[in-house]
Amino acid sequence: DKTSLWGGRFASGPSPELVALSRSTHFDWRLAPYDLAGSRAHAGVLQAAGLLSREDLTKLISGIDALAADVESGAFAAHPDDEDVHSALERGLLERLGPELGGRLRAGRSRNDQIATLFKMYLRDHAKTIGDLVRGLVTTLAEQAEAHIDAPMPGRTHLQHAQPVLLSHHLLAHAWPLIRDLDRLADWDKRVAADSPYGSGALAGSSLGLDPQQVAKDLGFTDSTANSIDGTAARDFVAEFAFVTAQIGIDLSRLAEEIIIWNTKEFGFVTLHDGFSTGSSIMPQKKNPDIAELARGKSGRLIGNLTGLLATLKALPLAYNRDLQEDKEPVFDSIDTLEVLLPAFTGMVATLTFNTERMAELAPQGFALATDVAEWLVRQGVPFRDAHEISGASVQVCEQRGIELWDLTDEDFAAISPLLTPGVRDVLTVEGSLASRNSRGGTAPARVAEQLLELRQRLA
Ligand code: ARG
Repeated sequence: DKTSLWGGRFASGPSPELVALSRSTHFDWRLAPYDLAGSRAHAGVLQAAGLLSREDLTKLISGIDALAADVESGAFAAHPDDEDVHSALERGLLERLGPELGGRLRAGRSRNDQIATLFKMYLRDHAKTIGDLVRGLVTTLAEQAEAHIDAPMPGRTHLQHAQPVLLSHHLLAHAWPLIRDLDRLADWDKRVAADSPYGSGALAGSSLGLDPQQVAKDLGFTDSTANSIDGTAARDFVAEFAFVTAQIGIDLSRLAEEIIIWNTKEFGFVTLHDGFSTGSSIMPQKKNPDIAELARGKSGRLIGNLTGLLATLKALPLAYNRDLQEDKEPVFDSIDTLEVLLPAFTGMVATLTFNTERMAELAPQGFALATDVAEWLVRQGVPFRDAHEISGASVQVCEQRGIELWDLTDEDFAAISPLLTPGVRDVLTVEGSLASRNSRGGTAPARVAEQLLELRQRLA
């Protein structure tokens, strides 16, 4: 079989069953532009090493360019007999340039170093796309925070009322993890950029005097890989990328879950824009938070892609094994998922209306100011242990009478403890409580304004 990549030592061509199993063009075709870029760079170092005349290099490059145009227009596509994107494009080149010239390009490279390099190039491009989408969501969260900079809401721990916080503070608490995801992407990219595997050959490097650093430079890397075995066998860059996408999904899911809860009748904290919610085919009144639910659901899928990938890599001996072909679909799926999810999610957040009146009304309820009473006592010189007791006793009295802390009279307070002088009323308002939490990173309005500035500087 002289048309395949390994005709020489085989008497027969591959069985149809093998071809069906082996084929990867239905998912690796998206790497075609990167494969062609790799071929251009490779042709360059073949010429520099004296293995290709200048004239042949020119012909090769124009052949690659013509093939690239046909790939782009769809005039050239994978054939069912093509095993993968690399073999399909080699066929395309042979068809265009003939076996003499077309057959020269394969010298000194292997699909093993090709795929490791192309995959990195593809992931680096999509790290940028996903990074831009995440940045868009962070910007939207910052805008919503700014629009509600002084609006209070109930802050919760264990989903129970804990202490009043600013809505802006809470929204920004969802923005910071995404900022760290951006940091993770940038950090990942720096590591991958310095590690171009092209030139590693099948596993051992090349005997042809090719310059891997030149190829690396041509393909947008800062350096080539230090170890050709590692270069062809390592896939931790894929796992790490899949982790970051999974983490982004998890970060979205935590906000999604809150939006779903806030959108219930019982909470009534938010109203979703019609364009970013769905109706029911049977219940005319329904307006559902499907985007948030899809975010929550798809985060599971992103985790699955990561764990599947890790399972593929576990205990895999060096160097390249065909198992590694299984590394692409999960991470392609993670990319496709985030690239369709993030725009919808950002639109939902941007068009969210907050019922700030209701949130403000609920902010102090459930004895959310009890800590303020205790800390007020501490500022009067009372040990916190005693202060906690006294404040707790006040809550108990209120609970028995079915009232809130601010409903207690001066006499009630005095009866609970003589230390509870009328001055305690100063902290029994949401505004007083919020303003008092003025440590760095706290929910005091001035601190949140500062925080918003800090976040925007990080974005810039
Ligand atoms: N399609 C293969 C992959 O995705 C490319 C490398 C194939 N190498 C090989 N020796 N069969 O991993």
